[in-house]
Amino acid sequence: MKPVKVGVLGLGTVGGGTVNVLKRNAVEIARRAGREIVITRASAKDLTKARICDTQGIALTTDPFEIINDPDIDIIVELIGGCGAVKDMVLQAIANGKHVVTANKSLLALHGNEIFAKASEKGVMVAFEAAVAGGIPVIKAIREGLSANHIEWLAGIINGTGNFILTEMRDKGRDFNDVLAEAQALGYAEADPTFDVEGIDAGHKLTILASIAFGMPLQFDKVYTEGITQITRADVEYAEQLGYRIKHLGIARKTPEGIELRVHPTLIPDRRLIANVDGVMNAVVVKGDAAGPTLYYGAGAGSEPTASSVVADVVDVVRALTSDPENRVPHLAFQADALVDIPV
Ligand code: NDP
Ligand code: HSE
Repeated sequence: MKPVKVGVLGLGTVGGGTVNVLKRNAVEIARRAGREIVITRASAKDLTKARICDTQGIALTTDPFEIINDPDIDIIVELIGGCGAVKDMVLQAIANGKHVVTANKSLLALHGNEIFAKASEKGVMVAFEAAVAGGIPVIKAIREGLSANHIEWLAGIINGTGNFILTEMRDKGRDFNDVLAEAQALGYAEADPTFDVEGIDAGHKLTILASIAFGMPLQFDKVYTEGITQITRADVEYAEQLGYRIKHLGIARKTPEGIELRVHPTLIPDRRLIANVDGVMNAVVVKGDAAGPTLYYGAGAGSEPTASSVVADVVDVVRALTSDPENRVPHLAFQADALVDIPV
């Protein structure tokens, strides 16, 4: 069988990690996918920049549309980020009949309803495991592992940068801005880091999780959003003395009135598992009526943890390529036409 050809848009922290993981583990990945997967083209803004990955054998361009419009490319992996031009790129890829893998939570939280509807119309897949909680396969867990359950609530630490900041403030008494600068240098933070510290990024991720868990449209505008910028070192220390940890949580809960969606700092007793999730790690608890509470833990940001989810999505898309298109979309994409408009 011919190899599946992938075009990667963006060669930064996640794009570079994706190239590294796909090249390093190519043989195992091909065995699992049932086909060889090759990145043949990639785009970046500045082609003279040093990269964290080896781009040998990959044709590079500064124009993502060259790749999107290339009939030879089967899957577009969008790792640029942001919403403006990138939304056009994703819609064009779908219009061209290409499957899309993305880590872009802001794009999906704000424009996902339109994107998934177009993908359903066109019969292509849009996969997005990396958009929530980095390397943790939490989308798959909710959609597949818990598919028998009525989900009652979910709650979690879903921003790695924010959790890294709170942990360093507590453990080392470090200054907020100093830790944020380190998170940026490590590639954890968003291009606009106010998204991390003001709770916007967590709000985007909660929007996506809630849509999967409760089967409702994406409604970011309904999320109560509060970040960690008002938390001082003194707050963190007092909480510790009283036997609590301050953690920034995203919470989605079914109530008789509708779905409650909120992200904000919380005080958690220090004996609880989630209170001990530190650094860039994330954790999500999902409460199903049959399974009870289940906990998912792992790196919430960073190059290869996030690439792990991106590549797993590529593998899922490749596996689905051999299936009947009529039966494939619900497995990976949102079922745009099956969403229930629950009040939020
Ligand atoms: P980076 O800033 O590291 O990389 C962005 C890449 O996009 C760069 O290679 C940049 O080129 C390229 N780029 C920017 N603008 C354009 C353009 N107009 N045309 C072509 N290429 C362009 O971002 P990340 O890798 O950190 O993030 C990518 C996506 O993944 C975002 O949606 C982010 O939210 C998401 N994400 C990130 C995680 C992380 O830990 N970093 C974790 C989970 C999701 P150049 O390198 O030349 O500047
Ligand atoms: N900036 C995000 C975070 C990246 O720190 O969690 C992972 O989505």
